[in-house]
Amino acid sequence: MTDFDCTPQVDLEFMNAEHRKAFDDANEIKRLLEIAKTDLSSVEKSIDQCLDKLLADTVNHFHLEEKYMEEYQFPAREQHRHEHQQFLRNMNIECRLWQSDHNLAAAGRLERYVEEDFPHWLVNHIVTVDTVTASYIARHGGRSL
Ligand SMILES: [Fe+2]
Ligand SMILES: [Fe+2]
Repeated sequence: MTDFDCTPQVDLEFMNAEHRKAFDDANEIKRLLEIAKTDLSSVEKSIDQCLDKLLADTVNHFHLEEKYMEEYQFPAREQHRHEHQQFLRNMNIECRLWQSDHNLAAAGRLERYVEEDFPHWLVNHIVTVDTVTASYIARHGGRSL
């Protein structure tokens, strides 16, 4: 399982906190999807709520990073923002697919998303753009963030 504890930390604490939240949200959805395999109806509503939370937390996570990139004039902020937008677009599609079907096939698809696509993208994003961004902001006075 990919989780926060095996992901390298970046130089800004607020970003590490957002990343931990993202893994926690995804892990909670995974736990519910495991139950869904034998009792889908008992967890349908909870999956909806957790997906809403994952989306809201991700929007907030990206918004915070973008706010600081702007404030500290991080040179590659446009590129970084673009990665966020693409990822959010994809996450919205996955959420809508689950919401429109609410069946076992949709649960299986959602499971692949939270077990593979989501953590893979997140880890790759953290060890590349987020790491460079955090290091830049920390070196330019954002140390206490
Ligand atoms: Fe991030
Ligand atoms: Fe980011």
